Amino acid sequence: MMRAVLAAEPDGLPGRLGEIDTAELPPGDLVVKVAYSSLNYKDGLAVTGQGKIARRFPLVCGIDLAGVVESSGSADFSAGDEVVVTGWGLGEERHGGYGELARVESSWAVRLPEKMTCYEAMAIGTAGFTAMLCVLALERHGIEPGGRLPVAVTGAAGGVGSVAVALLARAGYRVVAVSGRPEQESYLLQLGAAEVISRQELTAAERRPLGPRRFAGAVDVAGGPLLATLLRETDYGGCVAACGLVGGADLETTVHPFILRAVDLAGVESVRCPTPVRRTAWERLACDLPHSVIEEMTVTAGLGEVPDLAAEILAGRVRGRIVVDVGR
Ligand SMILES: NC(=O)c1ccc[n+]([C@@H]2O[C@H](COP(=O)([O-])OP(=O)(O)OC[C@H]3O[C@@H](n4cnc5c(N)ncnc54)[C@H](OP(=O)(O)O)[C@@H]3O)[C@@H](O)[C@H]2O)c1
Repeated sequence: MMRAVLAAEPDGLPGRLGEIDTAELPPGDLVVKVAYSSLNYKDGLAVTGQGKIARRFPLVCGIDLAGVVESSGSADFSAGDEVVVTGWGLGEERHGGYGELARVESSWAVRLPEKMTCYEAMAIGTAGFTAMLCVLALERHGIEPGGRLPVAVTGAAGGVGSVAVALLARAGYRVVAVSGRPEQESYLLQLGAAEVISRQELTAAERRPLGPRRFAGAVDVAGGPLLATLLRETDYGGCVAACGLVGGADLETTVHPFILRAVDLAGVESVRCPTPVRRTAWERLACDLPHSVIEEMTVTAGLGEVPDLAAEILAGRVRGRIVVDVGR
């Protein structure tokens, strides 16, 4: 048996710290002794039972894990290797990272980059990995540092947002952090934001099909009205990398930003992201995100604290990233 955080169940059982028989781990050719997992918005939904994330019960939550290979049926990995696994249905369709042991497919695992620890990998987690995918999307669309206009990051004090602000600022972009929490201004400036504005300030301009050209590009975790505003206010040839929906799944826009300003809307998805892209993103994260910045944005929690923290992240009260120490 092993301790694990289990998803809330439709019959009313709440998200909880419980136990699961390790014989019930799903199929896979890689057994990983999990050192750390992390808390993402989606984990909040699964643990509390909101958003229909869990597809089977009981389910060990945790969409992320980092740890040491215990046994491998693949020539690509050996016992003792340190790996990071995120997405691929962990903590949704199959048992995830909030338990001491996990069984996964070796094709999903990425060997930890040199100099990155399991703790740091989970301080980054799906949120930070997704932020890196957003940065890669901006780069692919030709948005370069040092341009005339800044780039915006919404949900800036959250997980994806914090890592995006730090990555973009360190790469030399001028970053406008959009946050609903004025009390996080000094934190965001510390991460490298040049300016912090409120969500209301972003959406204050009169709603016309096109607005003033304020941004060269953006990383958006909000969706809804914030994403619509970003599209209206992105400069000619700019790009908005969209990855989230904390502010709403609807998108009310016209085609004007696309056909009159050649703005690109780049969709970013982390769960089924192909493994070669993952390797690139993790190597970049290892190079571009210094330990001191990771420390600045991260706190650690034990497994038993996860159910309460799940409600906190959904309420938008978590700052930066939470690493889950599965041995604690
Ligand atoms: N596409 C993918 O593969 C992928 C991967 C990871 C995450 N996501 C999505 O990205 C989003 C953020 O995930 P996360 O892990 O970073 O969550 P998080 O840590 O909870 O951060 C979300 C942040 O969004 C802001 N926010 C909260 N409510 C808002 C609202 N109503 N309108 C606008 N902003 C609001 C808050 O930041 P401020 O207080 O600073 O405004 C909050 O901290 C989620 O929707 C998640 O599902 C998608």
